[in-house]
Amino acid sequence: MQLIGRDAETGVLEEFLGRVRAGESHAFALVGESGAGKTALLQHIAERASGCLVVRVEGVQPEADLAFAGLYQLLTQLPVRFDQLPAAHREALRTAAGMRPGSLNWLAISLAVRHILFAASDKQPLICLVDDEQWLDHASVHVLAFTARRLGTRPVGLVFASREPSSEIAGLPFLKLNGLTDSAARALLDSTLAAPVDPAVRDRIIADAHGNPLAILDIPDEPLGGFALPLVTKDEWHLDTLPDETRRLMQVAAADFVGDPVLVWRAADKLGIAARAANPAIEAGLLELDTLVRFRHPAMRRAAYWSATLPQRQEIHQALGDVTDQRTDPDRRAWHHAHATPGPQEAIAAELERCTVRAQSRGGLSAAAAFLERAAILTPEPAQRARRLFAAAAAKHDAGARNQALELVAAALAGPLSAGERAKAEQLRDQLRTATSLMDEVRRAVEAGGNTDEVCIESVLEAWRGVEPTTADDYAKAVLYNGIGRHDAARDAALRALHTPLVITELAEAAARTGHFDLVKALPDPVGDWASGIQARIDALLTEGAQADAHHRDSITYLDRTHVRIELARAHLLYGEWLRREHRRIDARAQLRTALEIFTSMGAEAFSTRAQRELRATGETARKRTQPNHNTLTAQETQVAQLARDGLSNPEIGTRLFISPRTVQYHLRKVFAKLDITSRTQLDRVMLG
Ligand SMILES: Nc1ncnc2c1ncn2[C@@H]1O[C@H](COP(=O)(O)OP(=O)(O)O)[C@@H](O)[C@H]1O
Ligand SMILES: [Mg+2]
Repeated sequence: MQLIGRDAETGVLEEFLGRVRAGESHAFALVGESGAGKTALLQHIAERASGCLVVRVEGVQPEADLAFAGLYQLLTQLPVRFDQLPAAHREALRTAAGMRPGSLNWLAISLAVRHILFAASDKQPLICLVDDEQWLDHASVHVLAFTARRLGTRPVGLVFASREPSSEIAGLPFLKLNGLTDSAARALLDSTLAAPVDPAVRDRIIADAHGNPLAILDIPDEPLGGFALPLVTKDEWHLDTLPDETRRLMQVAAADFVGDPVLVWRAADKLGIAARAANPAIEAGLLELDTLVRFRHPAMRRAAYWSATLPQRQEIHQALGDVTDQRTDPDRRAWHHAHATPGPQEAIAAELERCTVRAQSRGGLSAAAAFLERAAILTPEPAQRARRLFAAAAAKHDAGARNQALELVAAALAGPLSAGERAKAEQLRDQLRTATSLMDEVRRAVEAGGNTDEVCIESVLEAWRGVEPTTADDYAKAVLYNGIGRHDAARDAALRALHTPLVITELAEAAARTGHFDLVKALPDPVGDWASGIQARIDALLTEGAQADAHHRDSITYLDRTHVRIELARAHLLYGEWLRREHRRIDARAQLRTALEIFTSMGAEAFSTRAQRELRATGETARKRTQPNHNTLTAQETQVAQLARDGLSNPEIGTRLFISPRTVQYHLRKVFAKLDITSRTQLDRVMLG
């Protein structure tokens, strides 16, 4: 991880590591408020400590009262030979662990721990990183602090990160983590922003954050042109103890996303709030009102905003809109007025729509989308409203907010659109549905593999779509490279992602395709249809001839019973590829076509390209790749529909086309949707030929 603006601190840490490596013990405390970057710095040490044994202990709030919980964490990571400990030490530890009755002998326990640390540092320098010391149980702190003061000349380093170091740690040398400088804070903010941000809003975010990295990273990635309402938050800051007028002033300040004191004062004045109302908030350190309006913490701004009732918020936005300059800031004025009105009003909606372009230049696509959405909501006339809803949907789509786009386009289609607009809206809806269904598929695929936490679904989605993931998620990369057929790159990525159990499937394919059969691993516990299907695939990749054939078919059978269509499609693809290499071209085509259709219907671009390439290699003339068109049937769907019309059951059709009954069912569902019918008896009526 790249730390920004911590050169001085990392310099100190390097020196610390140098001293420990040179055989000089050292212990110190890393002190800073929540979010200051303590854990990040500990991580930095761990990454730099090559050649050292690094152990980590973390204080966790619920265990703060559990005596020796921290020591237990520490000792389980060290190579302790209890039989080699002096008897007194051994007994003391057993008492501490509750394995033996008796009163605690603190000195013996501490010496035992020191003994163990020293023994562990015999072969290589030892680094102990203790995080969140403020939550470490007192017994462990006591012992560790004792040890830290008596390390002598051994290569042992101890670091305690803490918000508020306990008195026992307080005596150690300490490194205080202050806020980042403004320029570092800006660099950190810029590193996280996807859309352009109005410089004024950027300044305000930096000001509120007071250099706290977490506060900077914690900003909503909603329209950052300042065209977003603060995130809803639970009221952690007790504003209700403040005088009424003071609280109202804070609400006004919170609603002004730019943090312009002139504007805030003028709006306050309009609302009859006297200037002196600021004093209690300023005295309590909650608010600063000088060249910029700053809150003590971004969460405080959110709390202030949402402490107002809806009518109060509308009143505040009205005042802020009124005092905003129409000539220099028309978009911000329109935005405030749009949040002041309790119901639809054409004049305001039209003004918002006019300001969209300007809002976009300030806050990017998502700001433009927010403007259009609000404009649509405020539009009284149905046709106009439907048109704006569609424009908003398109903008949300461009801004990457798929679900919201889908909701808006559905709302637009429910209204009176012109024929041309309707066609466009339907096209957008279909496109969005495809993407959404892929998203669901990816989630299912990941869940079937049992891990949901470690995998960044968005990155994996990108990979399935054939797009280079924006994050450095190696699992997603393995999926992408397998998809586009760069198996060597997929193999390397998969090897870097071994901590993700799901990667086994990617590794198997990539390694087998590049001839590194030794790297293919079996699933640890292939229970259930998904795991059995994947294991069968792995077996298929490792075998030849009739055995491989049987494994491929098993894999399809198992995966067909799951809801993970994307893996089913891959099973068809792999089988098809295998069949082609066995020169069974006709069989291969059926498999590859099935795979291609599932991939295409989901928008799994990379894999559909691969399936298409394979299909072409079987001699089939390639069809032009199109977006799924909901009016025309694909070749496979036509075949299925014809057989269904001719009275064949799903299993019969499956046998004919060499696909499973469930896949037949899947094709039929799509046929019905495209032809707008509900049962196979209607096929006769709508199908010719
Ligand atoms: N100097 C920095 N540069 C970039 N990111 C940072 C920096 N310091 C902290 N962060 C990030 O800010 C967040 C909060 O930091 P963290 O180390 O968890 O704080 P603490 O442990 O002090 O509460 C984390 O996401 C961390 O990665
Ligand atoms: Mg932390």
